[in-house]
Amino acid sequence: MAASSEHAPRLPQHVAVVMDGNGRWAEQRRRPRPFGHRAGVKAVRGIIGACVSKGIGALTLFAFSSENWSRPRSEVSSLMDLFLRSLRREAAELSANGVRLRFIGDRSRFSQELVSLMGDVEQQTLSNERLHLNIAVNYGGRWDIVAAARDLAFAVAQGTLDPEQIDQDRFALSMSLAGLPEPDLLIRTGGERRISNFLLWQLAYTELYFSNALWPDFDDAAFDAALTDFAQRERRFGKTGKQLQSGAASS
Ligand code: IPE
Ligand code: IPE
Ligand code: MG
Repeated sequence: MAASSEHAPRLPQHVAVVMDGNGRWAEQRRRPRPFGHRAGVKAVRGIIGACVSKGIGALTLFAFSSENWSRPRSEVSSLMDLFLRSLRREAAELSANGVRLRFIGDRSRFSQELVSLMGDVEQQTLSNERLHLNIAVNYGGRWDIVAAARDLAFAVAQGTLDPEQIDQDRFALSMSLAGLPEPDLLIRTGGERRISNFLLWQLAYTELYFSNALWPDFDDAAFDAALTDFAQRERRFGKTGKQLQSGAASS
């Protein structure tokens, strides 16, 4: 992934987004909730385009949580349908724009049709490098951590891994977003100020930004406002402000 730090030192390399507020957006218009989800797809297109043009190398979008199965069956099936149709429609253009798609989450509950489309799109876009786009579907941060732990336990049981070798770096290698820098910026729209079981491990030092905009209203200007806010944050990673001011070289 190209480092953009020289030209735009304050641009995040990896943005994660909890795209919340579609249902309320529709309800405000006295329309059924799926109407809001469809409007949300437009905002997804917008933020992908913005990341590509600004040179942000990775974008991780929370599209469906492991808890969202608890919604009314009709809403869940319309979301699955929308996901399938949007993916079919957008995949070729995304690929032409240099987007590499990856899906994170447990695929075991999806239809065979959706699972195979997801696999195909991942394969087709594998060598693209301009934007790493990760879509979290049936994703939960706790699921991710437990899946990594199980992975490591298997390796130990098979004798290919010594428990002494398990440190944070090795653990991170077994997690969904292995190989990508951790998100620098998390944006949550819709006014709620919670993580809702999104990337629990990966958000350890992420800057959090909450917007009252409902997701379908989150446009370029709203994204720019989030980036401007991010640019003003002082990321200390445990150090003091004074240490940072006296130069990155001193430790
Ligand atoms: C986010 O919007 C999209 C999904 C969770 C799939 P919501 O559907 O949660 O919208 P609100 O929060 O009810 O407005
Ligand atoms: C979080 O939104 C999940 C997604 C945006 C996909 P929710 O609307 O499901 O979150 P809660 O339940 O209000 O915390
Ligand atoms: Mg919501």
